[in-house]
Amino acid sequence: MTDHLWSGRFAVAPDADVFGFQSSFAFDRRLFEDDVTGSLAWVEALASAGVLSDADAAAMSAALGEILETGRRDPSFVAGADEDVHAFVERQLVARVGEAGKRLHTGRSRNDQVSVDLRLYVRRVALDLQGHVRGVISALVEQAGSAGQALMPAYTHLRRAQPILVAHFLLAHAEALRRDDARFDHVRDEADAMPLGSGAVAGSSYAIDTAGLAARLGFSRVVANSLDATADRDFVASFLHACALTMVHLSRIAEDLIIFSSEEFGFFELADAVTTGSSLMPQKKNPDPLELVRGKSGRAIGRLTGWLASMKGLPSGYNKDLQEDKEALFDAEDTVRGSAAAVAAVVSRLSVSGARTQAAASGLLLATEVADYLVSRGMAFRDAHALVGRIVRDLLASGRDFESLSMPDWRAFSDLFEDDVVARVTARAAVDARQTPQSTNPMAVAEALSRLTAWLQNARADRDAG
Ligand code: ARG
Repeated sequence: MTDHLWSGRFAVAPDADVFGFQSSFAFDRRLFEDDVTGSLAWVEALASAGVLSDADAAAMSAALGEILETGRRDPSFVAGADEDVHAFVERQLVARVGEAGKRLHTGRSRNDQVSVDLRLYVRRVALDLQGHVRGVISALVEQAGSAGQALMPAYTHLRRAQPILVAHFLLAHAEALRRDDARFDHVRDEADAMPLGSGAVAGSSYAIDTAGLAARLGFSRVVANSLDATADRDFVASFLHACALTMVHLSRIAEDLIIFSSEEFGFFELADAVTTGSSLMPQKKNPDPLELVRGKSGRAIGRLTGWLASMKGLPSGYNKDLQEDKEALFDAEDTVRGSAAAVAAVVSRLSVSGARTQAAASGLLLATEVADYLVSRGMAFRDAHALVGRIVRDLLASGRDFESLSMPDWRAFSDLFEDDVVARVTARAAVDARQTPQSTNPMAVAEALSRLTAWLQNARADRDAG
């Protein structure tokens, strides 16, 4: 292949190394499907505008359909020395229908073409990633269901704070991922604007029915300004942001599971199938997949910040810098997909060591309950806090906890303590005492669980319907 899309302008062939440097076909071949979809619609739009004869349009559509089929059947077909996927598809078209194929690019530029391709791609991929994120949510929800009433400590500053249900811990992570799912909804909405008709920068001089084209391609609106549209990659930045934050959340799940499954904690047991051994130390069972998720979150954050940096200095209109969007997008996509699948696999096979979590949920982390007890007997919270602080200091000095206190011991601290203090100062009583809907009260947690279960069912039904 000696010709390029712009050969007429130059007397000499491009320098091979420089041409290779600025080519994007090696990676933008991922847009093949969307590029052909966009071109099929463009052929129809050109025919409706009277730019193409019906015969040419029919021949071009048939050939594009064949190109699509061939590429689907054999991905290795989508390769060659072309500059990018757009040049590849056009070359294939001309090879099949000759002269008519050369009319495809009428009124269109690669600037609005790559934008439509990317928007179609992002909308598809965001939907797919939502499926993966929901896979993790579903695994967390199932584990929360089987955790039942098991107790564990909640931590602040990684120090034991208050008792919670294990289910509450699991559903906390599910909530964060649910926000990610909503963020991908927003990304799909942002990408939902049809840019064809923008041309290179100033718009197309053919009477293209852009609204019809939008409807044909499944967009609900048309972009507002050709100059903006040909250089707008905000939807890519939003996608990268959604990916980065999803990775941050997956990384935090990973970190919790790494810590809580360590010998020191022993709250959870990771399934053998999702861990690795050591080449040297026979006893080791390492959480490699979780560590890798945690590590890859840095990479997803880098893709977002890198892309923002690439965009920030661009003058108006299309600039080749924009080509950098693709590797960022594809890499973030692959990272989220792989990581979500790994976390879902780990979570779904997790076992909870109820005895360990329960044991860790008793002791001095019940101090707030003791203070609340005194408050229920009329003491001001600040005074109660100070008094319980003194009790804790005493207990620490003698290496004991609240359970070791006899009734006379309690009453020596305050005569507000009655016999019922013993029953009130337990991990179980602590969770039962919580009253707000977002709390770890078992009834509130059961409701949260059924809300998330219903949400997952709806999401699944929407997906199957749409
Ligand atoms: N490969 C290019 C990209 O990804 C396609 C658009 C090229 N446009 C141009 N004027 N060179 O941005």
